[in-house]
Amino acid sequence: MKPFTFSVLRLLSDGHFRSGEEIAQTLGVSRASVWNALQAAAELGLEIFKVRGRGYCLQQPIEWLDRERILEALGDQAARFQLEICDSVDSTNRQLAQRNIAEGAKGTVLAAELQTQGRGRRGRAWHTGLGGGLAFSLLWRFDQGAGALSGLSLAVGVAMIRALRAAGVDGTELKWPNDVLHNYRKLAGILIEVQGDMLGPSTAVIGIGLNLHLTDATKNLIDQAVVDVRTLTGNAPQRNRLFAQLLGEVAGVLQIFETQGFAALRDEWMAYHAYQGKPVQLLMPDGRKREGEVLGVAEDGSLLVYGDGATQRFASGEISLRPVGMSEGKT
Ligand code: BTN
Repeated sequence: MKPFTFSVLRLLSDGHFRSGEEIAQTLGVSRASVWNALQAAAELGLEIFKVRGRGYCLQQPIEWLDRERILEALGDQAARFQLEICDSVDSTNRQLAQRNIAEGAKGTVLAAELQTQGRGRRGRAWHTGLGGGLAFSLLWRFDQGAGALSGLSLAVGVAMIRALRAAGVDGTELKWPNDVLHNYRKLAGILIEVQGDMLGPSTAVIGIGLNLHLTDATKNLIDQAVVDVRTLTGNAPQRNRLFAQLLGEVAGVLQIFETQGFAALRDEWMAYHAYQGKPVQLLMPDGRKREGEVLGVAEDGSLLVYGDGATQRFASGEISLRPVGMSEGKT
């Protein structure tokens, strides 16, 4: 989406009506340009009211990401991050991964108002819509090798539950390896991409996507059951505060992970585990299916499943897990 479209939307962000004429005058452009910009935003799923005689208004006011407010809310923790916010990007993970090797400093955070090609696990797309969620990536460098980071996504899941609880979003649970669910509907996802040697050092790009208020148009793009914070709390979430809360909790958990590994967070992860003791079906990367009962997770973050008369460990994040009898679609 063009920078100009963001300028138009920023004028409408308070949720009040503004005429095309007023917007055009403020930005020094023609009314047709304003109309085109709003058309482009509507095509991306943003709901815009147009009322004859009153003008345009966003159905949901947008709280734009604000670097200063986020840093202020982070307080002492702000020094750990180099925070960058952009309007539109293909994927924050892709962007950080591209600069990672040479220049990315530990603690670089890239957040976007809109991702045009957001990436999910297992080759899926990730959709949030403009202003409808949080989408950001954090670059973190580890002395350990890539092999020691197997529990990292689970550790980040713990941070997410802590942040959501602190923000008054209760009843959220974790699904191995890294989904945040509410009543089996997906609220947030984590995508970790690691570069480096098995023996270290290594660098992780930790991508986090959280649904805040998804429009129907965005929900229609998603091929699984989803939920957003607004539905769970009944209120429009405060984006900047929640973002700061998430960053703060992630930093805290990373500090534990760096020194003690996932083992120190395992009990807490298990306390949030949505599928503990449940019969599940595992879909393997090669398409084979297996069934068993989930026993929990090991100290390295592997999933433990009892099936075929033995306890089996699964380490690959490419495995898909679903409760027996529940389809992976929109249930
Ligand atoms: C999943 O559950 O499949 C993982 C979703 C991860 C989405 C986030 S949004 C920010 C970052 N950039 C991306 O392209 N993906 C991650």
